Amino acid sequence: MTPHLLIRGGTPLTGEVWIDGMKNAALPILFALLLVREEVTLEGLPPVTDIETTLQILCKMGARLERISPTAIRIHTKNTDPDAVPLKWTTELRASSYLLGASLGRFGRAATGIPGGCDFGTRPLDQHFRLLETLGATVEQEHGILRATAPGGLHGKNVRLDFPSVGATVNGILAATLANGMTVIENAAREPHIVDLADFLNACGAEIVGAGTSSIRIRGVSKLHGTRYRIVPDMIEAGTYLCAVSATGGKMRLCGVCPEHLGAILPPLRKMGATITVSENHLTLERSGSLYGTVLETAPYPGFPTDMQPQFAPLLCMARGGGRIYERVWKKRFQYTKELEKMGANILLSNDFADFRGGDRLVGTQIHATDLRGGAAMLIAGLCAEGTTELCDVRHLERGYPNFVAKLTALGADISYVQN
Ligand code: EPZ
Repeated sequence: MTPHLLIRGGTPLTGEVWIDGMKNAALPILFALLLVREEVTLEGLPPVTDIETTLQILCKMGARLERISPTAIRIHTKNTDPDAVPLKWTTELRASSYLLGASLGRFGRAATGIPGGCDFGTRPLDQHFRLLETLGATVEQEHGILRATAPGGLHGKNVRLDFPSVGATVNGILAATLANGMTVIENAAREPHIVDLADFLNACGAEIVGAGTSSIRIRGVSKLHGTRYRIVPDMIEAGTYLCAVSATGGKMRLCGVCPEHLGAILPPLRKMGATITVSENHLTLERSGSLYGTVLETAPYPGFPTDMQPQFAPLLCMARGGGRIYERVWKKRFQYTKELEKMGANILLSNDFADFRGGDRLVGTQIHATDLRGGAAMLIAGLCAEGTTELCDVRHLERGYPNFVAKLTALGADISYVQN
């Protein structure tokens, strides 16, 4: 039986929410553990299924795992085996591509299933392969399995990415950390999760400078040591709750956030009618007046994040004057708009943008979470809609949003799981 969510919309959200650690920072750090042969304590792991799947993959490879709390682990990867990767599980995650860089760096060989994750049409890995091959690896794909080897070891080189790909930058850092000599990644991704990965590896003795800029320099070291590390708060989880309260109206205090990571998310929310005050590690958002339209254009960090555009869509549907979203990172990230249309939204899709007429009344019906952030958009739409919304395929949300039913219920939302 697959659980669905029943959302009875129309209640303004009020109260306090604590933000968990960032999924997209925790995933590369978990794979980076393969490079560290000593005990590591990680705190701030978000309790979501993508993290659980990754921990299971590491355990199948031989990692010794001790759970300290729902968000903290102690883990030792000394006795891991690259040939024991459970290939079937790797196909559930996009981040399993990080096995290539991490396993090559540690063992000189790697294997993984074709990485899965959200379906945005084709999700090529050519930048990953080019980077790894420049460092001395050979990558081959056969019968749905990616295999990489570097019998002569990995050697530092200069590599320029065609696009600041998050995943290729992660794989480059992982492969270069224990390589011989200096690797320079130009046109690198600058996301906070890249900085968090570099901070973690540096805490283990790596020599990585420039993370957070377009040029990352990695001087290979011979070994890493254990450490204790806390994952950075999730800017996308934070942004999602900010959108939810902006959409329903109400007042929320958001705790445990890094406001500096929200630089591209707060201005459009303010423009749309929210009042936001920012403190060192928390912020408050209030929206009581009208919602106004705006235009958004996604871009790599520090631009407006593609992982936030679906959550703004319900607001644009309802806003006076509507608006437009340009999607510049993933060409096929508007599949969720079909579900909003079932609720009464008027959206016109073009090649790389969506136009929202605005002023729409959203009405509850049965809808589907098409992917992780598309699912978050449906949740927000359901919270604003008249009547009851039945949200199916909730598993997508469970991949990346920790305890979202409990967090929303604490804000006063009328939302519950049902089996059918
Ligand atoms: C990461 O995916 C995130 N996933 C995605 O978040 C996020 O949307 C994306 O970065 C962009 O910010 C994780 O961190 C696990 P990319 P990734 O490589 O690394 C093209 C979520 O909702 N490209 O930066 O796969 C690619 O097709 C998820 O949490 C190539 O052409 O993204 C896309 O158009 C969804 N060749 C663009 O670059 C390559 O070799 C960005 O991809 C690699 C990428």
